[in-house]
Amino acid sequence: MKFKVPVFLLMISLNLLQVFGQQNDKTEIIPLPLQVNVSSGKFIVPQKVTIHANTPDEINVAHFLKTWLEQYGKAVSISNDQNAVISLSSTNGNVTNKEGYSLSVENSGIKISASQGSGLFYGVQSLIQLVPVEKHAELSVPFLTINDQPFFKWRGVMLDVSRHFFSVNFVKKYIDVLASYKINTFHWHLTDDQGWRIEIKKYPKLTQVAAFRKETLIGAQQLLKKPEDFKYDGTPYGGFYTQDEIKDVVAYAQKRYITIVPEIEMPGHSVGVLAAYPELACKDGNYETYKKWGVSEDIICPSDKSVKFFENVLSEVIQLFPGKYVHIGGDEAPKTVWKESAAVQKLMKKNNIDDVEKVQGWFNARIEKFLISKGKQLVGWDEILEGGITLSSIVMSWRGEAGGIEAAKHGNDVVMSPNGFVYFDYGQNPVLHSPDEPLNICCYLPIEKVYNYNPLPKELSPELQKHILGTQATLFTEYITTDNKAEYMIFPRVLAVAEVGWTPAANKNFKNFYSRVGKQFPRLDERKIMYRIPETEGLDSASITTDGNKKIITLRSIVPGAEIRYTIDGHTPDETANLYTQPIAVPANLAIKVRAVTFAPNGRHSVPVELIIQ
Ligand code: ACM
Repeated sequence: MKFKVPVFLLMISLNLLQVFGQQNDKTEIIPLPLQVNVSSGKFIVPQKVTIHANTPDEINVAHFLKTWLEQYGKAVSISNDQNAVISLSSTNGNVTNKEGYSLSVENSGIKISASQGSGLFYGVQSLIQLVPVEKHAELSVPFLTINDQPFFKWRGVMLDVSRHFFSVNFVKKYIDVLASYKINTFHWHLTDDQGWRIEIKKYPKLTQVAAFRKETLIGAQQLLKKPEDFKYDGTPYGGFYTQDEIKDVVAYAQKRYITIVPEIEMPGHSVGVLAAYPELACKDGNYETYKKWGVSEDIICPSDKSVKFFENVLSEVIQLFPGKYVHIGGDEAPKTVWKESAAVQKLMKKNNIDDVEKVQGWFNARIEKFLISKGKQLVGWDEILEGGITLSSIVMSWRGEAGGIEAAKHGNDVVMSPNGFVYFDYGQNPVLHSPDEPLNICCYLPIEKVYNYNPLPKELSPELQKHILGTQATLFTEYITTDNKAEYMIFPRVLAVAEVGWTPAANKNFKNFYSRVGKQFPRLDERKIMYRIPETEGLDSASITTDGNKKIITLRSIVPGAEIRYTIDGHTPDETANLYTQPIAVPANLAIKVRAVTFAPNGRHSVPVELIIQ
């Protein structure tokens, strides 16, 4: 009997072969490129390297290459010499995707071409990942060709600098490493109840008052039941970026082809604004910049005055950020005070609004009109759908995917940022609130779940799926008090988001990805990133085998060069515990608690994992 292979199956398997086939399964690059063809041999980069670069983009990208090559002791010059060892072209019309690139390494040298600067930059990032991070005297690159392009055009990461402030140096470090994984959007959550972080010259009290809080709640608010449980640290906290600092960060991001989307929250998440300008509230009050977390009922009162205030603020914001998008927040704005306000009732009557919830739509529409008049596009959290917005605005779906699906059906473009898949304030330990883990807000979001996220909802037809611009991870920072902790929460999960955004879903494979994650750790070490060391693997009941009257435990780690240490006496393994060198055999007839910890070559270690074997 003959089997007929359906054409679509043939196409799928060819596609997979292209990526995972003989030629390609060796690539360590994250995000996985579309097409890699490796041939035998390698190009040895000579001691003196010339880089051909002519246009401003080519010269910009050439400088990144130069800095990198100099770390290998190479003498690098940039010129328009056609016979250069490395040739960069940002005007190759054959590369149709704006962020795509083609990279070839052959006997005559290295060529990277793209139709724009971003593609060229991404070609260089792939080249860098082809070379071991250790700086040996010989710098060689395998002969190959890569043709690559992103699947989604919005590949973002958000950082909340309000709940905790992060320095310009940290933000730059963050942007630099994100760009190296081909993330193209940095969403800067600049304002919230607990702190206003951007200098606005027209409203100096925003940075004198709203940028500072008297003190901060201690511990996890979600675990506190009664007002007496709320304790504060008694230490003033705050900070902000001057406009010059913002300009400096924007220029830094532009060189790395990252668009910064500034977020100015309104009308909710604005208690700090009310502390600075209480006349923007619906009722008199003694407002102070928020010192705890959660959602406050004290929101901006909708009025011509408050619209004007935010227009003035946004006028300065627009001057600083050349990108197309301005995020106005719009989330979690309870209407408790609006319902009781005579002024809001009057506004509703005047504008024929029958539902106080829709007043936020009135407010948003005014701001949207203003932004459009300035050539900008409004972005907001999915609550902006509730009040009504025009089709020109972008909806960021955070309360799961429902808002994004509704918005796409409505005809709006969407960025998928569902909390259950890409919220990096969520924990990384299956044991909720594990004392082994730094404090986190809630939940368990392992890297595998992030990786397997597909931003294209099945509920949408292919036509409507075109509204999904891409995906974005967020880091809200209520409990992220230090740079190290931010890095611990972001890395390595952000590598999964980079691949979700770049690589077509049909080419994604978690096992293959995860093995590549381990290979990135030396690169993250070189950048001094405090990534979370993944737990030891193999301590799960499905991995335990039986041999006669023994249970056999086989442990492993993706961390290159790591040591695994274990105990069977219930204690947490430290450097004194048994070194794992071969599968552990324990009596099958006893209940034995096995605990294991991975010790990385960088001197740090994972949290323990344990299993009672019985
Ligand atoms: C959000 O997490 N409140 C957007």
